[in-house]
Amino acid sequence: MTSDKTKKPWDGRFTVPTDEFVEQFTESVSYDKRLAHYDIAGSIAHAQMLAKTNIISKKEGDEIIAGLKQIEEEITSEQFKWLTTLEDVHMNIENALVERIGDVGKKLHTARSRNDQIATDMRLYLRDEIDDIVLKLNEVITALITLADEYHDTIMPGLTHMQSAQPVTFGHHLLAWVEMLLRDRSRLSDCRKRINVLPLGSAALAGTTYPIDRNYVAKLLGFDDVTQNSLDSVSDRDFAIEFLACASLIMMHLSRFSEELVLWMSEANHYIDLDDAWCTGSSIMPQKKNPDIPELVRGKTGRVYGDLMALLTLMKAQPLAYNRDNQEDKESLFDAVDTVRMCLTAYVGLVSAITVRHDDMRQAAEEGFATATDLADYLVVQGLPFRDAHAVVGKVVQYAIEKNKSLPLLSLPEFQQFSELIKDDVFVVLKLEGSVSARNHIGGTSPEQVKAQVSRLKKLI
Ligand code: ARG
Repeated sequence: MTSDKTKKPWDGRFTVPTDEFVEQFTESVSYDKRLAHYDIAGSIAHAQMLAKTNIISKKEGDEIIAGLKQIEEEITSEQFKWLTTLEDVHMNIENALVERIGDVGKKLHTARSRNDQIATDMRLYLRDEIDDIVLKLNEVITALITLADEYHDTIMPGLTHMQSAQPVTFGHHLLAWVEMLLRDRSRLSDCRKRINVLPLGSAALAGTTYPIDRNYVAKLLGFDDVTQNSLDSVSDRDFAIEFLACASLIMMHLSRFSEELVLWMSEANHYIDLDDAWCTGSSIMPQKKNPDIPELVRGKTGRVYGDLMALLTLMKAQPLAYNRDNQEDKESLFDAVDTVRMCLTAYVGLVSAITVRHDDMRQAAEEGFATATDLADYLVVQGLPFRDAHAVVGKVVQYAIEKNKSLPLLSLPEFQQFSELIKDDVFVVLKLEGSVSARNHIGGTSPEQVKAQVSRLKKLI
């Protein structure tokens, strides 16, 4: 950033130059230059509209557009000199335009304000970022579906309260994650609909006296519609907050997956391994291989929640219409976009880095009496009401704990001490395979259902 005594657009009204501290304090160009591409796209569409409605001449419009394109090239090739003294991305580009094409450049800002300009830039920016994040979500979803397909009949312990509950298939577990991400995807596309409305034309707050054509600009920029109230248009940041809420939910989901990956990789569980390339070691303990990537994703979740809180607080109690507070919306939004994108990228890699340890998963499912509910269901089929069956099986489990045996290792006479209804076909029910296969309905954990879900999901993606 260079500081010089650049003229400000408001110099006419002022008697002394801006204090240097004030320049530093108010500038946003150091970070909003990230919006330059969108700012130029918006300005080109605005110039086209000004020419179409004869607010400026066709020739002037062409000169402005050529100048803007030249500036865009300079920015892309990093030749452009950004000035903090020119405060933000808008004034930097406008100033450069006048430098390049002369006085005609001063006509670009006819019938608009930086207030509707920044609102437009932010919507254009976020629309693109959402499209990119959705692509990343799809990649993670696809990787998970592939893994679920491969492990559709691999058995693991299903937990509630972190206690062994009922056996489930690993494929089913992975598809639970897919459901979460599919909801995230649909939330984002819903959020995008409300983003894709054009605020430009609202000018500073009240609209403009020129015969503008807002629908034409909307069409040029690919917006579905134009906003309907100028005061709301320049001050509204709901769309950014809504995006941050979607981003927070994505991170919440990734943090849940991360916690599970960390647990699964621990020596205590040993259900999976992660490829060396996706782990890091310790500087002191030579034996260590740590799941730092999921841990970092889990940790970064807090940042994104913070970004959401920052914007909610920024907007709280703001009176109409635009207030400078709104300039503070950008860094949180950019941070959330970058963080979510990086964490989803991490997950594409992480999912492919998983090696499943079938035997350890299965062994864990064998422990903890995971088929106790199946035994109760068996008694129900023999005619016992469920509550009574529950009580009988509770006693069987108590006995098995005393004998230090798992349920399938009890003998038929041992079972029959608790209920005459138990016959030798009970052992099929007590097997892990029997337990998962029996849950064969939409939403159930059976390998057959996992397969069916995989083919449904493959079509959906
Ligand atoms: N940099 C400003 C922002 O991000 C642009 C709008 C400035 N408007 C104003 N009235 N000072 O919000």
